[in-house]
Amino acid sequence: MRHILYTAVFALTCIPFALLAEDWVSLEKAGGKELFQEKCGMCHGDAMGMGTGLLARRLPAEQALLENREDLQVPFIKNVVRAGYGVMFPISQGEVSDSQLEAISEYLAGED
Ligand code: HEC
Repeated sequence: MRHILYTAVFALTCIPFALLAEDWVSLEKAGGKELFQEKCGMCHGDAMGMGTGLLARRLPAEQALLENREDLQVPFIKNVVRAGYGVMFPISQGEVSDSQLEAISEYLAGED
């Protein structure tokens, strides 16, 4: 009897960890749009962002939002993110992994 009880307690203890792991996996596999909002949104998410604000100085207002752009290409976006661009700092693999950058770039370039 005791044996069954221990097994049950052990199984129940595992549930939160299993749920956490699932959360992590879904974040890793998140789509480009979600990743863009999470990783780039603070600067490029809306008209208030610093990225949008600075781009609006040299681009038409509606083009300053990266999500509205039709001319962005995957290699350009990857290069901007890894090498930095003007005022924008380079973003390392620790902050945005290669696969996440791939998803974000494809989303912005309209390839997903
Ligand atoms: C800390 C704020 C910040 C974050 C975070 C940020 N950016 Fe930027 N980004 C900028 C600023 C500011 C500029 C404009 C730089 C300039 O013109 O000098 C810029 C410019 C760009 C450009 C160039 C657009 C063009 O046509 O010239 C691209 C592409 C870009 N960012 C992509 C991204 C992506 C993708 C991410 C997320 C992985 C990201 N940025 C995260 C601030 C940021």
